Amino acid sequence: MLNFLIFGPPGSGKGTQSVRLAEKFNLKHLSTGDMLRAEIAAGTELGKKMSAIMATGELVPDEVVIEMIAARIDSTKDSAGFLFDGFPRTVAQTEALEAMLNERGMKIDSMLVLDVDHDELVKRLILRAELSGRPDDKDPAVIENRIDVYKAKTEPIIEFCRQRGIYQPVDGVGSIDDIFGRLSNLISGYTES
Ligand code: AP5
Ligand code: MG
Repeated sequence: MLNFLIFGPPGSGKGTQSVRLAEKFNLKHLSTGDMLRAEIAAGTELGKKMSAIMATGELVPDEVVIEMIAARIDSTKDSAGFLFDGFPRTVAQTEALEAMLNERGMKIDSMLVLDVDHDELVKRLILRAELSGRPDDKDPAVIENRIDVYKAKTEPIIEFCRQRGIYQPVDGVGSIDDIFGRLSNLISGYTES
């Protein structure tokens, strides 16, 4: 089993690339953002509580997303491993993920970090707001807050992964196909060895 983190700030292309990579490499794509939005769409109690937090661009509590991932971690049957998108987002989530994988004889094999500059991120999310209907894309102040939260709470995971020797930065600017090619080359280095 091979486990990859697709990492990067809001709007860096994690979701776009994950869908394609999951198909190409037969990986199970797990996005905590998508799972939370599914809870909201289904009108669950959890969804109602989390939607208010998500609308501000703050992170939901660690235990909520750790629980969601824990419930799916045994679902890799017939797949080559996991592609984690938007999770982990704090060092505490990273430690929890590592523990869950270690208990099952697995590890985080690589962290692929999409590097995209601030202005490009904002441009993409404002554009997406027109189509996605995501409340957290509609307000430029919320977009800025998501980027700030990423820097403060999520970016420290890079140092954590650098120490484990699994950090791999990827240029996240260019065409979707070009970026897919860059990520595919890196992932192929694991699947073909
Ligand atoms: P989440 O859903 O994870 O959102 P995010 O990190 O803010 O990232 P986005 O989904 O906005 O961007 P993306 O990197 O996936 O880019 P995309 O491919 O869509 O989280 C939402 C909220 O849920 C959080 O704020 C938090 O409240 C909560 N949450 C989720 N997980 C959590 C966790 N683990 N812990 C705590 N809270 C959590 O691309 C963006 C746009 O750009 C698209 O329109 C796309 O078409 C376009 N695009 C993509 N690539 C390119 C390209 N190369 N050139 C031009 N346009 C491009
Ligand atoms: Mg996404």
